[in-house]
Amino acid sequence: MNPSALVVNGLSKSYGRSRVLSAVDLTVDPGSVRALLGPNGAGKSTLIGCLSGATSPDAGSVRLGGVELVGETPAQVRRSGLSVIYQSFSLVGPMSVVDNIFLGDELCRGPFIDRSSQRTEAQRLLSDLGISVNPDAMVDDLSVGAKQLVEIAKAEHHQAKVLVLDEPTAALSDRETTVLLDHVRRLADSGVAVLYVSHRLNEIVEIADCVTVLRDGVVVEAGPIQGHNTDSLAAAISPGLTELAATEVGSERRSTRLRARGVSCTGAGPVDLEVAEGEILALFGLLGAGRTELLETMVGLTSRTGSVEIDGQALPVGSIRKAISAGLMLVPGDRKTGGIFEPFTAAENVVLPHQKTLAGNGFRQTDAEARMYSRVVEALNIQPANHGILASSLSGGNQQKLVLGRWLPAEGLRVLLLDEPTQGVDVGARVELYRSLQSLAADRVSIVFATSEPEEAILLAHRIVVMYQGEIVMDVMAAEADEASLLHAAQTPLNPIERS
Ligand SMILES: Nc1ncnc2c1ncn2[C@@H]1O[C@H](COP(=O)(O)OP(=O)(O)OP(=O)(O)O)[C@@H](O)[C@H]1O
Ligand SMILES: [Mg+2]
Repeated sequence: MNPSALVVNGLSKSYGRSRVLSAVDLTVDPGSVRALLGPNGAGKSTLIGCLSGATSPDAGSVRLGGVELVGETPAQVRRSGLSVIYQSFSLVGPMSVVDNIFLGDELCRGPFIDRSSQRTEAQRLLSDLGISVNPDAMVDDLSVGAKQLVEIAKAEHHQAKVLVLDEPTAALSDRETTVLLDHVRRLADSGVAVLYVSHRLNEIVEIADCVTVLRDGVVVEAGPIQGHNTDSLAAAISPGLTELAATEVGSERRSTRLRARGVSCTGAGPVDLEVAEGEILALFGLLGAGRTELLETMVGLTSRTGSVEIDGQALPVGSIRKAISAGLMLVPGDRKTGGIFEPFTAAENVVLPHQKTLAGNGFRQTDAEARMYSRVVEALNIQPANHGILASSLSGGNQQKLVLGRWLPAEGLRVLLLDEPTQGVDVGARVELYRSLQSLAADRVSIVFATSEPEEAILLAHRIVVMYQGEIVMDVMAAEADEASLLHAAQTPLNPIERS
């Protein structure tokens, strides 16, 4: 074993009576990338919390180059050479890129911060990474991809010996992902030990040297990546996973359910779009292509020009309530800002919007609410299934399922819009979610979902519309589409890390 490796031994952690990690062993050698895989709720983020000092394990040790890290504070762990990049950023938005890179570890001359050295050093770190980000730019003004790379620059400033990334690409476009993976690979090649968590198995095959699979907090597989492909990894994560049948296209003529004419808003348009009843339409495009803006303006979250009709009935501009009563609903992409009500329980997160419909004689129908929640838990396999758990203590992927599950029982649903519905959702749960959407479509609900994964568009949709710079540039039946032509149509000439 390499003496400067990261070595985790017998790590255990429970919350109350639920055991989240059971005697986990794991090693990451300098110069290699270990993928940490597992279904939603398997314990990956908890393990990372134990490495970073944010969570204290009940038992076990974490050693870096022989030095014990358990018991150190997150700041001490970082100084010992272990940096973590979380999916939800640890950068401070209203501060500049330079200030973020040196936050808590400023370059000083005497008692004063040496701003000019910091700026020069930041420029060096950024240009080493090949990033054309202005060091004086506010972090808030950067794209998600650029923020992720600034996090890496920060880790480099700390001269990280171990870099841990928890779903770094969940919110990135294809091209931003490529840039990020290149940097991670380069860091590994320069001798950094990398632990990498992702639900996107194609990038695991691309970047990992070895894999550890966790299920229910137990290591069920550990070994080299050789001999694995995305299918075998999926089987290791979700045994018994059955393949999804591609969505069938019926031959009968169907009436137009959603009709958008000349729709323009900030960031998208003009767009003309028709979706038939029971049709599943993918809005494919890179991050910043205008998909989110288009979805949000159609449900009335932002102002627009142009018309949106459901079954011939025009929707007024800017009224979400009217959109919902016409049967048009949106599952937002960013569960942190648009989705989860953190102080509420998992069940409340799903049933709250339906309480009025369920209420009889003005009273809450707790039995009906419980039945509704149980149906959603079953349809999406939410773990743990317990009604009373706080939404904030669910794993990332299970929170995403709650946001989705909220709209599955909606009364009068005619058109369901979903923004990146499978971000952070594990392979097994994806298939369950796809099946739920297929069955909604079979009940004649129309579905429009934004995605930046071409394989997802082809698998799930009847028809694919590609967006580029706010407009529709391609409209093709999924059965006739291939990944390369979708990516080609969606390609923008912009620098991938500029805000688009
Ligand atoms: N603070 C907490 N209190 C109670 N339970 C928790 C807490 N934090 C995590 N858990 C539970 O621990 C388990 C593991 O969660 P964790 O976030 O580590 O999963 P994960 O593997 O990262 O999943 P995902 O792929 O969805 O991100 C889950 O069942 C979760 O509900
Ligand atoms: Mg997680």
